[in-house]
Amino acid sequence: MSDEKHPFLHDLSKHRGSPSTVIVIFGASGDLTARKLIPALFNLSLDSLLPNDFYLFGFGRKTMSKEEFSELTVTSILEHSRRPLNQEVWARIQQNIFFETGDYDDLQAFKALHNKIQTIENNLGRNIQILFYVSTPPSVFKPILENLGKSGLASKHRGSPLASKIIVEKPFGRDLSSAKELNRIISKEFTEDQIYRIDHYLGKETVQDLLVLRFANSIFEPIWNLKYVEYVEITVAEDMGVAGRAGYYDQSGALRDMIQNHMMQLLSLVAMEPPISTKSEDIRDEKVKLLKAIQPLNLKLQGGDVVRGQYTEGLIHGDKVVGFREEKGINPHSWTETYVALCLNINNWRWNGVPFYMRSGKRMARRVSEIAVHFRPAPGSLFKESNKFDLAQNTLVIQIQPDEGTTLLLNSKVPGLETIIQPVKMHFRYATTFGSNTPEAYERLILDAIIGDSTLFIRGDETEVSWNLYSPILESWQSAKDHGIETYTAGSWGPVAADLLLAERKHAWRKPGF
Ligand SMILES: NC(=O)c1ccc[n+]([C@@H]2O[C@H](COP(=O)([O-])OP(=O)(O)OC[C@H]3O[C@@H](n4cnc5c(N)ncnc54)[C@H](OP(=O)(O)O)[C@@H]3O)[C@@H](O)[C@H]2O)c1
Repeated sequence: MSDEKHPFLHDLSKHRGSPSTVIVIFGASGDLTARKLIPALFNLSLDSLLPNDFYLFGFGRKTMSKEEFSELTVTSILEHSRRPLNQEVWARIQQNIFFETGDYDDLQAFKALHNKIQTIENNLGRNIQILFYVSTPPSVFKPILENLGKSGLASKHRGSPLASKIIVEKPFGRDLSSAKELNRIISKEFTEDQIYRIDHYLGKETVQDLLVLRFANSIFEPIWNLKYVEYVEITVAEDMGVAGRAGYYDQSGALRDMIQNHMMQLLSLVAMEPPISTKSEDIRDEKVKLLKAIQPLNLKLQGGDVVRGQYTEGLIHGDKVVGFREEKGINPHSWTETYVALCLNINNWRWNGVPFYMRSGKRMARRVSEIAVHFRPAPGSLFKESNKFDLAQNTLVIQIQPDEGTTLLLNSKVPGLETIIQPVKMHFRYATTFGSNTPEAYERLILDAIIGDSTLFIRGDETEVSWNLYSPILESWQSAKDHGIETYTAGSWGPVAADLLLAERKHAWRKPGF
């Protein structure tokens, strides 16, 4: 089914006829459900994009009545939706909201859920598709999957377009062996076309626009290679700290939280070969090919390809903040990294020798995600002879958040009798051109899962290829002196070692957003 869709040419009329669906959220009393999933469902309902027959089951250990869960959905819309609550629209959905209390390892609770869904089908007089959303910590992924198998929910309507589907939240494994194990367990109960491994970065408009920018414009593709590109930077910087997720973050760190998943998705979309079509498998094949071409990293602490950092106290936008080890809920002796920078080399005909630098950190100077493609300097010396001008390199900056848009840095003559050259910006901003009320990533991704379009989800082999690159880094940090941790002041752009990583290669990080 997924191969029939052309996601980058989204035709919303198709969604309006999407199949009758029950969404079951495991971990429905949690943070993600309240902040993202319920507001996404509300906004889809506002746009008439949910199926006509739509049912929502929350599932969790917490004892909650149908009414209490329904009330919780209203609170979450009021607090987190991008558009205000429309009571009339949501009341129609609320009629079909239920909550099933149960332990994730309690088969009886899953059987009870199955019976209730069966009753819905009996009342409707036809089959209905079930979409499971696993929104719990990873420690309970396994019992949930096993009980979905044992209760018959996983195999319901298999072989028909109404086969059950499952969305699995990140993190998908902690390393290569746990990702393989998770793939093994999940594929025992579900076939690959039933599985939707989520990476919400792929649901962002600007990330989807990467493919449009590259392949719907003829001017970029001829120069998108080692002949014209000198290096590429990908930055995902956050100014916030662990923000109430200390327990999770101290066990995870920047490499697992950002680099292995979100940033690898950005990298693969920027660097992959043109797919032969916009069909799901064609795009995912190209992404996997690209990931396989990345060379193993040099893990030496000095002069290697990876820098690991942790923030100490500092100033964020003028306000004093504590260091990572002093954050509430963080082990005061923690060796978890809050920052990673690395240099990747892609060994293929397009990119051999072009460094791809990536960095991500918490408590950095400002919140910004962007991709900067630096082109080689203009050849010849027409304007360099006098040594009067320091010609800027042309750079294409794709801003993912905030202030979504694309900027091209060019050199221009300053008006006047003298020839003075100055870098200028050609700037396209989404908000100015299209308005600012674009759908949230989770709206797009939930909708795609309902209609069976897996393009913006991660395939099993993709997770393993990516972990294959990063697992050795995690292992090397275990044995390194001070676990390879450099420090950086909160509110800075990261450790000095990250500047050296580029300086050794005669490059420097861009000051993002400028
Ligand atoms: N929150 C985010 O912004 C965010 C962003 C990206 C990805 N994710 C991923 O989405 C998933 C859910 O995140 P979340 O922030 O919503 O998690 P959460 O609030 O910590 O947990 C969700 C629910 O899971 C159940 N739960 C929590 N700890 C459990 C445990 N140790 N054993 C069994 N059940 C437990 C609880 O429900 P009951 O007690 O009722 O069972 C809880 O309400 C995670 O995999 C997370 O990594 C979250």
